Amino acid sequence: MTTILIFLFTALAFLLNPSESRLSLDFYRQSCPQFSKIIQDTVTNKQITSPTTAAATLRLFLHDCLPNGCDASVLVSSTAFNRAERDHEINLSLPGDGFDVVVRAKTALELACPNTVSCADILAAATRDLVVMLGGPYYNVYLGRRDSRISKSSLIDGHLPKPAMPMSQIIEIFSSKGFTVEEMVALSGAHTIGFSHCKEFTSDIYNYSKSFQYDPQYNPRFAQGLQKACADYRNNPTLSVFNDIMTPNKFDNVYFQNLPKGLGLLKSDHGLFTDPRTRPFVEKFAADEKSFFQAFSQAMQKLSLVGVQTGRRGEIRHRCDQIN
Ligand code: HEM
Repeated sequence: MTTILIFLFTALAFLLNPSESRLSLDFYRQSCPQFSKIIQDTVTNKQITSPTTAAATLRLFLHDCLPNGCDASVLVSSTAFNRAERDHEINLSLPGDGFDVVVRAKTALELACPNTVSCADILAAATRDLVVMLGGPYYNVYLGRRDSRISKSSLIDGHLPKPAMPMSQIIEIFSSKGFTVEEMVALSGAHTIGFSHCKEFTSDIYNYSKSFQYDPQYNPRFAQGLQKACADYRNNPTLSVFNDIMTPNKFDNVYFQNLPKGLGLLKSDHGLFTDPRTRPFVEKFAADEKSFFQAFSQAMQKLSLVGVQTGRRGEIRHRCDQIN
């Protein structure tokens, strides 16, 4: 009787979440016991020499997972016959450091355990380790993802949020992947690190409307500062500004504290505070870093499971930028 019950429970768990039940925390225990240490060492060295790596990798991970799953499809380079995801307009600003940290880890892992570790697992684990390095919460990353055999720029549209989208559309993108509004707000707390290029918000700070020079949701001194910082953006498209001007290199809840003060950078950041559906969560996370960390880690764990390929689907890529 007990055996039958255990079998039924296992079968039920599998049916409810087949992808998760095929992944495991110790997936590489036998095949690549050095997995965690190699990722840790690579990530640490890279972040120390290039401090923009953590934010770059976190955004890269989001851009891998939301369109058709965490399958390293964003890492593939285009060929003469295929325009890959990374060449979609929205991905052109993904910084090289995120790609580079994965390539470094892959090179080290191929030496230690050839043909064993997927690029998708490397990206997922490296992201978590980098979040932790900047002071963010630890969360479990289940392993065993396989790499996609396709990467098409044409499959990206409608799967990634843009700053000018109405909040309903942003909520819809996340809810179509299984995220609640609270989880979406928690994930957006990722803007506690990193930066945005001026072109992402210039329409909000110059000639905003007939009556306003800049979007009145901005704190006036902040808006003036942004106007100055971005003054030369047409000639210099690399100009960029920290997403969280108060503590840009620390993973904390200050991003949420900034929003009610008009110190959000992107239209979508302001939107989280003005929209009545998202505002309660902004207020909760601003007041209580613990609740932000809890919600963020739970949502990141969920993000890392979106659409994963396991078992015999997909492949273990030899090189992260090329399908085998
Ligand atoms: C809610 C809707 C969101 C919108 C509209 C949005 C949009 C953007 C934009 C336009 C940038 C600037 C990119 C650049 O100029 O290089 C950015 C940066 C960033 N985003 Fe988001 N994002 C959203 C949510 C998220 C989420 C959920 C995450 C992660 C879980 C995330 C992580 C990041 C990170 C870490 C950066 C900084 C990248 C860097 O410094 O290189 N974002 N985001």
